[in-house]
Amino acid sequence: MRIDILTIFPQMFEGIFQHSILKRAISKDLASIFLHDIRDYSTNKHRRVDDYAFGHGAGMVMMIQPIADLIEKLKSERNYDEVIYLTPDGIPFKQKITNRLSTLTNIILLCGHYKGIDERLREHFITMELSIGDYVLSGGELAAAVVTDSIVRLIPGVLGDETSALSDSFQDGLLSPPVYTRPAVYKGWEVPRILLSGDEKKIDEWLTEKAIERTRSRRPDLLEEME
Ligand code: ADE
Repeated sequence: MRIDILTIFPQMFEGIFQHSILKRAISKDLASIFLHDIRDYSTNKHRRVDDYAFGHGAGMVMMIQPIADLIEKLKSERNYDEVIYLTPDGIPFKQKITNRLSTLTNIILLCGHYKGIDERLREHFITMELSIGDYVLSGGELAAAVVTDSIVRLIPGVLGDETSALSDSFQDGLLSPPVYTRPAVYKGWEVPRILLSGDEKKIDEWLTEKAIERTRSRRPDLLEEME
Protein backbone atom coordinates (compact mmCIF):
# COMPACT_ATOMS: atom_id res chain seq x y z
CA MET A 1 0.00 0.00 0.00
CA ARG A 2 1.17 3.52 -0.80
CA ILE A 3 0.31 6.56 1.34
CA ASP A 4 1.20 10.08 0.14
CA ILE A 5 1.12 12.71 2.88
CA LEU A 6 0.79 16.38 1.86
CA THR A 7 2.00 18.76 4.57
CA ILE A 8 3.84 22.00 5.28
CA PHE A 9 5.78 20.19 8.06
CA PRO A 10 7.19 16.94 6.60
CA GLN A 11 9.81 16.79 9.38
CA MET A 12 7.04 16.23 11.95
CA PHE A 13 6.63 12.65 10.66
CA GLU A 14 10.26 11.57 10.71
CA GLY A 15 10.45 10.14 14.23
CA ILE A 16 7.04 8.49 14.02
CA PHE A 17 7.82 6.40 10.95
CA GLN A 18 11.24 5.30 12.21
CA HIS A 19 10.02 3.19 15.10
CA SER A 20 8.08 0.10 16.02
CA ILE A 21 5.39 -1.32 13.73
CA LEU A 22 5.44 1.47 11.13
CA LYS A 23 9.20 1.06 10.71
CA ARG A 24 8.81 -2.71 10.30
CA ALA A 25 6.02 -2.33 7.72
CA ILE A 26 8.09 0.14 5.70
CA SER A 27 11.27 -1.94 5.83
CA LYS A 28 9.33 -5.07 4.75
CA ASP A 29 7.90 -3.04 1.82
CA LEU A 30 4.34 -3.69 3.00
CA ALA A 31 3.74 0.06 3.18
CA SER A 32 5.39 2.95 1.33
CA ILE A 33 4.95 6.39 2.79
CA PHE A 34 5.87 9.49 0.76
CA LEU A 35 6.05 12.93 2.35
CA HIS A 36 5.46 15.98 0.14
CA ASP A 37 6.20 19.54 1.23
CA ILE A 38 3.30 21.69 -0.04
CA ARG A 39 5.60 24.74 -0.08
CA ASP A 40 7.71 23.13 -2.85
CA TYR A 41 4.68 23.52 -5.15
CA SER A 42 3.95 27.19 -4.43
CA THR A 43 4.47 29.45 -7.45
CA ASN A 44 4.92 32.38 -5.05
CA LYS A 45 8.51 33.62 -4.82
CA HIS A 46 8.33 33.51 -1.01
CA ARG A 47 6.91 29.94 -1.11
CA ARG A 48 3.69 31.24 0.40
CA VAL A 49 0.92 28.71 0.96
CA ASP A 50 -1.71 30.78 2.83
CA ASP A 51 -3.69 33.98 2.31
CA TYR A 52 -6.44 36.05 3.93
CA ALA A 53 -10.01 34.67 3.97
CA PHE A 54 -12.37 36.43 1.56
CA GLY A 55 -15.30 38.21 3.15
CA HIS A 56 -14.50 37.89 6.85
CA GLY A 57 -11.59 38.12 9.25
CA ALA A 58 -11.54 34.41 10.04
CA GLY A 59 -7.75 34.19 9.75
CA MET A 60 -5.49 32.61 7.16
CA VAL A 61 -6.62 29.98 4.66
CA MET A 62 -4.43 27.49 2.76
CA MET A 63 -4.37 28.53 -0.90
CA ILE A 64 -5.73 26.39 -3.71
CA GLN A 65 -2.76 26.60 -6.15
CA PRO A 66 0.07 24.67 -4.41
CA ILE A 67 -2.22 21.89 -3.13
CA ALA A 68 -4.13 21.55 -6.42
CA ASP A 69 -0.86 21.35 -8.40
CA LEU A 70 0.55 18.72 -6.05
CA ILE A 71 -2.60 16.55 -6.09
CA GLU A 72 -2.86 16.83 -9.90
CA LYS A 73 0.78 15.79 -10.28
CA LEU A 74 0.28 12.73 -8.05
CA LYS A 75 -2.96 11.78 -9.82
CA SER A 76 -1.20 11.97 -13.19
CA GLU A 77 1.29 9.36 -11.94
CA ARG A 78 -1.14 6.75 -10.53
CA ASN A 79 -4.76 6.22 -9.55
CA TYR A 80 -5.77 7.07 -5.99
CA ASP A 81 -8.56 5.22 -4.17
CA GLU A 82 -9.17 8.10 -1.76
CA VAL A 83 -7.96 11.68 -1.32
CA ILE A 84 -8.46 12.30 2.39
CA TYR A 85 -8.48 15.66 4.16
CA LEU A 86 -7.87 15.65 7.94
CA THR A 87 -10.12 18.22 9.55
CA PRO A 88 -12.06 18.64 12.80
CA ASP A 89 -15.29 18.99 10.77
CA GLY A 90 -14.76 15.64 9.01
CA ILE A 91 -16.65 12.42 9.79
CA PRO A 92 -15.51 10.64 12.98
CA PHE A 93 -12.60 8.28 12.26
CA LYS A 94 -13.51 4.77 13.49
CA GLN A 95 -12.15 1.23 13.29
CA LYS A 96 -14.61 0.31 10.49
CA ILE A 97 -13.17 3.09 8.32
CA THR A 98 -9.56 2.11 8.98
CA ASN A 99 -10.40 -1.55 8.20
CA ARG A 100 -11.61 -0.47 4.76
CA LEU A 101 -8.74 1.95 4.13
CA SER A 102 -6.20 -0.82 4.90
CA THR A 103 -7.48 -2.77 1.85
CA LEU A 104 -6.77 0.08 -0.60
CA THR A 105 -3.73 0.50 -2.88
CA ASN A 106 -3.01 4.24 -3.01
CA ILE A 107 -4.30 7.02 -0.78
CA ILE A 108 -3.48 10.69 -0.25
CA LEU A 109 -3.66 12.32 3.20
CA LEU A 110 -3.84 16.12 3.16
CA CYS A 111 -2.92 17.98 6.36
CA GLY A 112 -4.56 21.37 6.85
CA HIS A 113 -3.43 24.40 8.88
CA TYR A 114 -4.68 27.79 9.99
CA LYS A 115 -8.44 28.16 9.33
CA GLY A 116 -8.44 25.31 6.84
CA ILE A 117 -8.08 24.89 3.07
CA ASP A 118 -9.84 26.79 0.26
CA GLU A 119 -13.28 25.16 -0.03
CA ARG A 120 -12.78 24.55 -3.78
CA LEU A 121 -10.12 21.95 -2.95
CA ARG A 122 -12.72 20.10 -0.90
CA GLU A 123 -15.26 20.29 -3.73
CA HIS A 124 -12.96 19.22 -6.55
CA PHE A 125 -10.28 16.92 -5.11
CA ILE A 126 -11.19 15.56 -1.68
CA THR A 127 -13.11 12.27 -1.58
CA MET A 128 -13.24 11.79 2.20
CA GLU A 129 -12.87 14.07 5.24
CA LEU A 130 -11.86 12.59 8.59
CA SER A 131 -11.77 13.94 12.14
CA ILE A 132 -9.85 12.00 14.81
CA GLY A 133 -11.87 13.53 17.66
CA ASP A 134 -13.90 16.47 18.91
CA TYR A 135 -10.96 18.74 19.66
CA VAL A 136 -8.91 21.07 17.49
CA LEU A 137 -5.27 20.25 16.78
CA SER A 138 -2.85 22.89 15.52
CA GLY A 139 -2.66 21.08 12.19
CA GLY A 140 -3.61 17.87 10.43
CA GLU A 141 -0.18 16.24 10.86
CA LEU A 142 -0.86 14.43 14.14
CA ALA A 143 -4.22 13.29 12.76
CA ALA A 144 -2.54 11.98 9.58
CA ALA A 145 0.00 10.10 11.72
CA VAL A 146 -2.84 8.52 13.75
CA VAL A 147 -4.70 7.48 10.58
CA THR A 148 -1.50 6.11 8.98
CA ASP A 149 -0.59 4.06 12.06
CA SER A 150 -4.05 2.57 12.40
CA ILE A 151 -4.16 1.62 8.70
CA VAL A 152 -0.65 0.21 8.36
CA ARG A 153 -0.89 -2.13 11.37
CA LEU A 154 -3.85 -3.87 9.64
CA ILE A 155 -1.99 -4.65 6.40
CA PRO A 156 -1.52 -8.44 6.22
CA GLY A 157 1.99 -9.44 7.34
CA VAL A 158 2.64 -6.30 9.40
CA LEU A 159 1.57 -7.75 12.77
CA GLY A 160 2.59 -11.23 13.86
CA ASP A 161 -0.11 -13.71 15.00
CA GLU A 162 0.76 -13.03 18.61
CA THR A 163 -0.35 -9.41 18.23
CA SER A 164 -3.24 -10.15 15.86
CA ALA A 165 -5.31 -7.08 15.03
CA LEU A 166 -8.49 -9.19 15.26
CA SER A 167 -8.40 -9.13 19.07
CA ASP A 168 -8.05 -5.32 19.26
CA SER A 169 -10.53 -3.15 21.07
CA PHE A 170 -13.36 -2.14 18.68
CA GLN A 171 -12.85 -5.03 16.20
CA ASP A 172 -15.87 -6.86 17.61
CA GLY A 173 -17.57 -3.66 18.74
CA LEU A 174 -16.33 -4.08 22.33
CA LEU A 175 -13.44 -2.68 24.35
CA SER A 176 -10.67 -5.19 25.19
CA PRO A 177 -10.83 -7.14 28.46
CA PRO A 178 -8.02 -6.65 31.05
CA VAL A 179 -4.71 -8.46 30.43
CA TYR A 180 -2.05 -9.73 32.87
CA THR A 181 1.46 -11.19 32.65
CA ARG A 182 4.01 -12.68 35.06
CA PRO A 183 4.39 -12.67 38.00
CA ALA A 184 1.06 -14.21 39.03
CA VAL A 185 1.35 -12.44 42.40
CA TYR A 186 2.96 -9.02 42.85
CA LYS A 187 3.04 -7.46 46.35
CA GLY A 188 0.09 -9.67 47.19
CA TRP A 189 -1.95 -8.49 44.14
CA GLU A 190 -3.16 -11.62 42.39
CA VAL A 191 -4.00 -12.31 38.76
CA PRO A 192 -7.62 -13.59 38.50
CA ARG A 193 -7.41 -17.36 39.22
CA ILE A 194 -9.50 -18.29 36.20
CA LEU A 195 -6.73 -17.11 33.85
CA LEU A 196 -4.32 -19.61 35.42
CA SER A 197 -6.83 -22.49 35.33
CA GLY A 198 -6.05 -23.74 31.81
CA ASP A 199 -9.81 -24.14 31.16
CA GLU A 200 -10.06 -22.43 27.75
CA LYS A 201 -13.86 -22.38 27.59
CA LYS A 202 -14.21 -20.80 31.03
CA ILE A 203 -11.42 -18.31 30.21
CA ASP A 204 -13.15 -17.27 26.96
CA GLU A 205 -16.43 -16.75 28.81
CA TRP A 206 -14.66 -14.66 31.48
CA LEU A 207 -12.90 -12.52 28.84
CA THR A 208 -16.17 -11.84 27.02
CA GLU A 209 -17.91 -10.97 30.28
CA LYS A 210 -15.12 -8.53 31.24
CA ALA A 211 -15.12 -6.97 27.75
CA ILE A 212 -18.89 -6.37 27.99
CA GLU A 213 -18.58 -5.01 31.57
CA ARG A 214 -15.84 -2.60 30.57
CA THR A 215 -17.72 -1.47 27.47
CA ARG A 216 -20.94 -0.97 29.45
CA SER A 217 -19.25 1.22 32.07
CA ARG A 218 -16.94 3.23 29.77
CA ARG A 219 -18.57 3.27 26.32
CA PRO A 220 -22.28 2.36 26.50
CA ASP A 221 -22.67 4.04 23.08
CA LEU A 222 -20.75 1.09 21.53
CA LEU A 223 -23.28 -1.42 22.91
CA GLU A 224 -26.15 0.67 21.52
CA GLU A 225 -24.47 0.67 18.09
CA MET A 226 -24.39 -3.16 18.14
CA GLU A 227 -28.13 -3.51 18.86
N1 ADE B 1 -6.97 19.01 12.28
C1 ADE B 1 -7.14 19.75 13.39
N2 ADE B 1 -7.86 19.11 14.30
C2 ADE B 1 -8.17 17.89 13.78
C3 ADE B 1 -8.92 16.77 14.23
N3 ADE B 1 -9.51 16.74 15.42
N4 ADE B 1 -9.02 15.71 13.41
C4 ADE B 1 -8.46 15.73 12.19
N5 ADE B 1 -7.75 16.75 11.70
C5 ADE B 1 -7.60 17.83 12.48
